[in-house]
Amino acid sequence: MAHLTLNILAGCVFGMSAQNEKPAYETVTRNIAVALDEVEKRAFKLLAIIPLVNRLPLPSKLRIDASMREVRRVVQHIIDERKKGLSKSACKGPDLLDLLLAARDDGKQKKFTDEEIYEEAITFVSAGHETTSNLMTWALYNLAANPEVYQRCLDEVDSVMSIDNEFNASMLSLLPYTEAVLKETLRLYPPVPLLFRTAVEDNTLVASDGKHIHVKKGTELVLNLYMLHHSEKYWPEPSKFDPSRFDQGQSEAFLPFAAGSRSCIGQNFAMIEAKILLATILQQFHFELVPDQTYVPAVAITMRPSVWLDAQVNATEDNRNTQRKLGEIINHLKTFDDENLCHQNISSLFPQDRLVLIISGRCGR
Ligand code: HEM
Repeated sequence: MAHLTLNILAGCVFGMSAQNEKPAYETVTRNIAVALDEVEKRAFKLLAIIPLVNRLPLPSKLRIDASMREVRRVVQHIIDERKKGLSKSACKGPDLLDLLLAARDDGKQKKFTDEEIYEEAITFVSAGHETTSNLMTWALYNLAANPEVYQRCLDEVDSVMSIDNEFNASMLSLLPYTEAVLKETLRLYPPVPLLFRTAVEDNTLVASDGKHIHVKKGTELVLNLYMLHHSEKYWPEPSKFDPSRFDQGQSEAFLPFAAGSRSCIGQNFAMIEAKILLATILQQFHFELVPDQTYVPAVAITMRPSVWLDAQVNATEDNRNTQRKLGEIINHLKTFDDENLCHQNISSLFPQDRLVLIISGRCGR
């Protein structure tokens, strides 16, 4: 699933495809995966948040630097080719690289430097692929674990699409239940479970018990979206997978893409992409959980299933060949069970069962 979403993003960002530019694509994807893996490990050892330690040439830092140098080399080549007109967008319109090359600073007519273009492009690719692949994996798990929801979603997809009929833009608005399945998945398993913020001024938070928490400027805050999305205060039967809770619109306590000026810039892209993928995959495959397996979510920077595992995926009658083509989906579908275990696993990462955890800086209560 991660390969699929990475391929989609690499195409939309710099017109690169796994099929046409195999060596370059493999270099970029392999090195991004290595770097993200190391960054996650360091984040959870808290190495990354101590500025001096973060700069030390430890083996993990050297691995990140070497991987990102490789990615930089390949992306610089792509930028150079595009500037010389030797390559073009793989999308119907301009891709992100075209937009970045054409962008000018307000009034000053200043262009982005190559370094800035690289940083923007890589941020999109890294922020956008694993999050969406986790959403898709959890959505397929939720459907397989909830046959009635699965059937209702499939009925909706079948009423809009047929096997020979490719997805098109007009179908997007005809899949409200499929969208609710994705939203309920984002609530139960937010791909980004924690947000990190620094208070830019003194402020006061009012806790659920009415007490006031004074937060000083400069304090580092961790916002626990997982707890927010599982709070009984906002969600009746919070552990239940129930897409119909989105029938009446969206609660303010639903923040999978964060909120405010630093919220996810790719959220509409992600929802459209996920809707197309889910509808297309459901049309062509049938998913069942493999019995007797217990798996729990693992939290790193994103939240994903903790172990790769098998699931039974059966191609629908007419489309067995496509099963081979999308074989990766089969390998990456995970099952896991036991809500208590999931909850404990996540909760154990936090010293207090709070929505806001203050990890450094000064605060008084
Ligand atoms: C289900 C999929 C996704 C989820 C749950 C998600 C969630 C988030 C969240 C919570 C943030 C804020 C992080 C923070 O402030 O600490 C964020 C930022 C961001 N996301 Fe997404 N995202 C998703 C998909 C995407 C996609 C597909 C793209 C690109 C096309 C994307 C691009 C970005 C970028 C560039 C940022 C940084 C924005 C900034 O620095 O201001 N995301 N995302």
